[in-house]
Amino acid sequence: MGETPLNSPAQPATKGLFIKTYGCQMNVYDSERMKDVLKPLGYAPVDTLDAADLVVLNTCHIREKATEKVFSELGRLKELKEESGGRLRIAVAGCVAQAEGGEILRRQPAVDLVVGPQSYHRLPEMIARMARKTGDILETDFAAEEKFDALPRARQVDGPSAFLSVQEGCDKFCTFCVVPYTRGAEFSRGVDAIVSEARELARQGVSEIVLIGQNVNAWHGAAPSGDGRGGEWRLGDLIRHVARIGGVERIRYTTSHPRDMSDDLIEAHAEVDALSPFLHLPVQSGSDRILKAMNRQHTAADYLRIVEKVRAARPDIAMASDFIVGFPGESEKDFEETLALVREVGFAQAYSFKYSPRPGTPAASMSLQVDERVKDERLARLQGLLRNQATAFNQASVGRKLDVLFTREGKLEGQALGYSPYMQPVHVADGAHLIGRMARVEIVAATMTSLSGQLLAAEARIEVSA
Ligand code: 5AD
Ligand code: SF4
Repeated sequence: MGETPLNSPAQPATKGLFIKTYGCQMNVYDSERMKDVLKPLGYAPVDTLDAADLVVLNTCHIREKATEKVFSELGRLKELKEESGGRLRIAVAGCVAQAEGGEILRRQPAVDLVVGPQSYHRLPEMIARMARKTGDILETDFAAEEKFDALPRARQVDGPSAFLSVQEGCDKFCTFCVVPYTRGAEFSRGVDAIVSEARELARQGVSEIVLIGQNVNAWHGAAPSGDGRGGEWRLGDLIRHVARIGGVERIRYTTSHPRDMSDDLIEAHAEVDALSPFLHLPVQSGSDRILKAMNRQHTAADYLRIVEKVRAARPDIAMASDFIVGFPGESEKDFEETLALVREVGFAQAYSFKYSPRPGTPAASMSLQVDERVKDERLARLQGLLRNQATAFNQASVGRKLDVLFTREGKLEGQALGYSPYMQPVHVADGAHLIGRMARVEIVAATMTSLSGQLLAAEARIEVSA
């Protein structure tokens, strides 16, 4: 061990970066990319607020509760900032920043920066302006194309599974939803940029790539020049292409809209081994009257036809969905139609919410808003049914042998946690050595939310002799 030479150049002091992420997978991706953007400035991720010089709240605006959380968290951070003598800087990013940036700065003067989801590539300039105490500390332009061009090529990845953003924004304008306002118009990234990011992930040992977008199956792009057929690619073509990258063992995509569930994408489920037999396809309601008022642009029967086609292509597919109860004007009969659709499809997983009126959206000013108690009661009934279906789906896995991608430690000592091809969490005892890779597991027990498995003997032997 040599001594440090006296004249070695000083290392730039590292600064602690703490990012708290709320909401959807798009925000999870954006938080990762913010770390990449801030790394050249000397910011390194830290696990506690005490160690942070900069805290970023990457916020969600989808329901009122999510937005309220931001303001209460900012109150706590203000105190921490005061205790730190002003060293701690506070940034607000994400969809609340986009929708209520000015209001945030007005209500909470302790906030140093506000940056929308299409502008975070400008964080370095903003931080410089913050340090100089001159210039704008609010950036909420819609510049998706510029953002993706400006983001560093290098990605720091953590584990064998990574999100890859291929599409942003939404033009569908469901009447309950803020996304078209906070994330802007639909934008698809180009094939070359996506494929080079996928290769970079595979090079770093990522074996599962999750293609993400608010309306991921609306993705489209010009075919690369080497593609003999030319013309336009849809998501199915992109999936087939990414599946050929060495090291990519699993591909998923989320979240989809029924309107964009093309036959080609459905066929990819039959053809591409690496494509997970899992489809998150939000339906929101089973009533045609409500679907129309929501501007979903499809009927319950259209949804059922899609499910039928997907199951014909991939009989073991696990279906997941999102539901909203208590949309304005929803009657008991409408709600029962939702229950009927759920019974007909049989979902492996689902997210269900009470309708939350969002400022500026058409549904917020519709008459016949549903009473909160009625919403509570419907949500409880729907969730009871969905819980039974999730439990039944998991119990049907007991005795099966499944490939599990182990991503992290479980709660118990030595336990590993991974995901089955159907996105079920699977725990294995004494599995610490499995983290980061795929292994074959026999499922021995199930609950509503997860499975327990045992490593198959062949796998266990390989480990012992390794
Ligand atoms: N109220 C309740 N749930 C909502 N979602 C979106 N907007 C609202 C709202 N205003 C739900 C939808 C969507 C999921 C991401 O959030 O189910 O699919
Ligand atoms: Fe919101 Fe509808 Fe767009 Fe989904 S499709 S992001 S629910 S407007």
